[in-house]
Order: sequence, then C-alpha cells, then structure tokens
Amino acid sequence: EPVPIIAIDGPSASGKGTVAQIVAQKLGFHFLDSGSLYRLVALTAINAGCALDDEITIAEKAKSLDVKFEQGKILLTGEDVTETIRQERIGTSASKISALPKVRDALTQRQRDFAKAPGLVADGRDMGSVIFPTAQTKIFLTASAEVRAERRYKQLITKGNSANLDDILKDIRDRDVRDSSRAVAPLKQQADALLLDTSDMTIETAVQFVLDAYLGK
Ligand code: C5P
Repeated sequence: EPVPIIAIDGPSASGKGTVAQIVAQKLGFHFLDSGSLYRLVALTAINAGCALDDEITIAEKAKSLDVKFEQGKILLTGEDVTETIRQERIGTSASKISALPKVRDALTQRQRDFAKAPGLVADGRDMGSVIFPTAQTKIFLTASAEVRAERRYKQLITKGNSANLDDILKDIRDRDVRDSSRAVAPLKQQADALLLDTSDMTIETAVQFVLDAYLGK
C-alpha cells in the first residue's frame, strides 16, 4: 500500500512552505521542504570554496550531505544552520546549483526517503513532476510576483531587516525566470496539478483548499 503524498509545487515566496507545513501538521504527516536541501548544498559548496557551476564536485557534496532535521532545526554536520540557509544569498546560490542535473540526481533518493507512513506533504518545484510523479494530490500554489514581493518585504521588515520592495520584486522575477527556463525539472504547472492562486487568499483558505483536494479523493 503506497504512502499518501501531497505534492505542493510553486515559485518562491508564494507561501507554499507555510501552507504545506500547516497541512502536514493537521494530517499528522511528515513534511519535506525540498528547497532546504538545495540551500544546504549551496551552503556546503560556498563553504568549500567551490565554483557554483562545478557540477561534479557539487553533486558529490550533495550525495554526502550530512543533514539532520530535528524539531524544526536543521543540522549540517552537527551545526545548526536553520537561520543561515534562509539568507537571500543562499537562496540565489541554491537557485543556481539546482539547475545542475547531476546535483538534482544526487538529491532524488534522499527526497523519496521522506515518504513514510502515515503520509507526506512535499514542498518544492518538481515534487509532482519528478520526485513523486504518482502523488495522489498535486497542487501548483502560486501568487502574482507583486504579491509575493510584498509578502517577502513584510517578512523581512518584521524580522527587523532593512528591505527595498523594488529590489525584492526584481529578485523574485529573476529567480522565476531562472527556475522556469532551466532544462531540467523546470518550474511549471503539471497537467494533473490543481492551480491554487493565493494572491487574494488567506493562509487558512489556502490550507482548506489543499485539505479538501486531498480528502475529496
Ligand atoms: O523553496 P526555496 O526558495 O527554499 O528553494 C531555493 C531554490 O532551490 C529555488 O529557487 C529553486 O531553484 C531550488 N529548488 C529546486 N527544486 C526544488 C526545491 C527548490 O530546484 N524541489
């Protein structure tokens, strides 16, 4: 009997991470934040002084990544990097190394290993297309670039960081282009994924949409 999987894909800052996490909590399912794996690989590569296009070396680092997810904390070779990997520069680097096919291959099995009873909510770009193509429920969760920029801006300001809305919007657009136009596992809505545009939606409404999509089956 295969484990139920809810695949939630979409662009950065769409709120899919928040929605996916709440859905996982409500169902008592495991949660995979696949972007964090690409961020961890990016951090490892930067720390090792690798060029971000050195596919072979970075794929090897991805394969041997020593990571533990413990009570909301992410430990990389024992070190707490939970906050570090959220930095904008790590996100940008993650977006670059994630375009390398061998790096993606190196992370495939590690992601599939998260599929354990009673179920999994997987958040990323290619959860429904590449990693879990047979997932029961596939959602493409998005929002307009402007709304995503607003959300990212508010998040940064709330955390006491300085931020510029125009710069953020430009970053988001650049990242969208890079993630959508790459040759391997590009970000796009799959034919069998339900579109969930959260531009004018609360988190609660988005969560309910995903739960209904899953439970309705
Ligand atoms: O979702 P998050 O912003 O943490 O992801 C960081 C980067 O990792 C994304 O911009 C994307 O390029 C890459 N990524 C990916 N495939 C996934 C998850 C993330 O290529 N499944």
